[in-house]
Amino acid sequence: MCGIVGYIGQKKAVKVLLEGIKRLEYRGYDSSGIAFVEDGTMRCEKAVGKVAELEKKIDGKNFHAHVGIVHTRWATHGAPTMNNAHPHVDCSGEIAVVHNGIIENYDYLKSILEREGHTFQSETDTEVLAHLIEKYFQGNLETAVMEALKEVEGTYGIAVISTKDPQKIVAARKGSPLALGIGNKEYFITSDVSASLPHTRDVVYLDDNELAVLTMDHYETKTMQNIRTYKKVEEISWNIDMIEKGGYEHFMLKEIHEQPQALKNAMRGRIESNSGLIKLGGLINYEKELRACKRIVIVACGTSWHAGLVGEYMLEELVRIPVEVEYASEFRYRNPVIEEGTLVIAISQSGETADTLAAIREARHKGAKILSICNVVGSTIAREADCGIYLHIGPEIGVASTKAFTAQITVLYLFTLHMMHLKHPRVPMHDDMVKAIQSIPDKIQTILESEEEMVNLARIYKDSEHFLYLGRGYNYPVALEGALKLKEISYIHAEGYPAAEMKHGPIALINKDMPVVFIATKDGAYGKILNNIEEVKARGGKIIVIATEGDDQIGEKVDHVLYIPKTSDTLTPILSVIPLQLLAYHMAVMRGCDVDKPRNLAKSVTVE
Ligand code: AGP
Repeated sequence: MCGIVGYIGQKKAVKVLLEGIKRLEYRGYDSSGIAFVEDGTMRCEKAVGKVAELEKKIDGKNFHAHVGIVHTRWATHGAPTMNNAHPHVDCSGEIAVVHNGIIENYDYLKSILEREGHTFQSETDTEVLAHLIEKYFQGNLETAVMEALKEVEGTYGIAVISTKDPQKIVAARKGSPLALGIGNKEYFITSDVSASLPHTRDVVYLDDNELAVLTMDHYETKTMQNIRTYKKVEEISWNIDMIEKGGYEHFMLKEIHEQPQALKNAMRGRIESNSGLIKLGGLINYEKELRACKRIVIVACGTSWHAGLVGEYMLEELVRIPVEVEYASEFRYRNPVIEEGTLVIAISQSGETADTLAAIREARHKGAKILSICNVVGSTIAREADCGIYLHIGPEIGVASTKAFTAQITVLYLFTLHMMHLKHPRVPMHDDMVKAIQSIPDKIQTILESEEEMVNLARIYKDSEHFLYLGRGYNYPVALEGALKLKEISYIHAEGYPAAEMKHGPIALINKDMPVVFIATKDGAYGKILNNIEEVKARGGKIIVIATEGDDQIGEKVDHVLYIPKTSDTLTPILSVIPLQLLAYHMAVMRGCDVDKPRNLAKSVTVE
């Protein structure tokens, strides 16, 4: 996804900007560019590929500009070329814009601007912004930006500078996140606060249809109707080493190994030690609505959708209310039925996924209450929901989600226990259910200590071209998640299926060259899944099984066994996914893949 950093202050802007944008590289991009005002002249440099290419163009030149903007682009309209890289400038070259989002009516706007004599250099939608601002500029940059954005349909997070109204950055957002970094007589505009974190922990999150004006000695925020807004300054609790790799080769491996601590953090302060009751601060004012809840719809994408599927199973089993999980991208367009008493839960690590955000807006429009489960504090989905639960697991940098998945299941489990109590207040909290979740971090640690087994398996199977992942019950979502992990970082084709579904088609694929991963823990479906294992074995398939410690029977039937500690069926997904995360990670590394920034992927998909 694209990254934006703007700086205005006493420091040398070029150095601050390049350091800042490098902190956003993990988000995935294919080109970058920088613009700054040097001695009254607009300087603009761009490069295809990594930010290091842009640095080579700047290297050695001792620029002393104090205002600038920088951008990493993940191509949506127009190939990743120099011309299409941001910043984009107007005809005079005196206004420069960087943009995240999509201008949906850019064709129409571009045709009008060309008729009015504007000449375009790129194929992008963004460039129309530069020319629109030029069209409306009459001496004040923020006024010109407001006028220009009135004509725009679509989504944007933008930052604008100009030599014609120097010592100023104007920013505006609608559908694409932006935050202000509030320093000591210096200000930042970023699409991700990790870029300004080395300079300040104080941030202000812009809301949709809001605009900010940053100058050398102050900042202000306004609505697009030019009405001042006064916003809370929030303090970021993360520190830089949480963002750095902490000695691991990749962020993904760090985050896999962080999971015991991450889940402790997700539970911290949320389980009352004596009663075992669950305390979720973000839901305190909504207990009446939760008690009255008759149906739950979970909307999410990707890994978060897989966590939602685990949530469906546990909520229906333990709270006995109907739950369905919908791909957010499907939910938002199918005119869903939302009746009285429907709670929509949005699960999103980033809190910025466009489809999930659109889904909750559609659900709210139809009268649903919205509960968010996000990791990024202050993210758009978190702020637009009626209530919510943060994961509190620190930043997840690796594009492939790992600790967020297990934390989402943990939080869903706490929410399930909480709903059990709200719905049946006279039933005491089951002590064993609380103890079960509290023992999970140590059980994850046990699995992590057997990582070498996954390395060995990765070495055997890293050149396979296809994988099948099969599970039943609570392990069916884990089969889907294991397959997604493998395909998104190693580029090996992999499919997850409910194990019983195999006989309805996929069994035709079985041969000695396609490893089949079964999640066959000792649960209610164990006997059935043994039959599925026999079916694969009879057809010469290579079988890797995730099994429960102490299960000596299963080893005779398969080629490889990876054991995990025993826990409740409901919590098994948190443990059974760990070996699959490590298997995918090590195969990807052995295949020389860019594990933290897989091709074509972004950490947060904020465009449709
Ligand atoms: C998971 O490994 C992927 N990176 C992707 O499927 C991700 O889960 C999905 O894009 C949803 O992201 P979110 O949780 O930030 O909404």
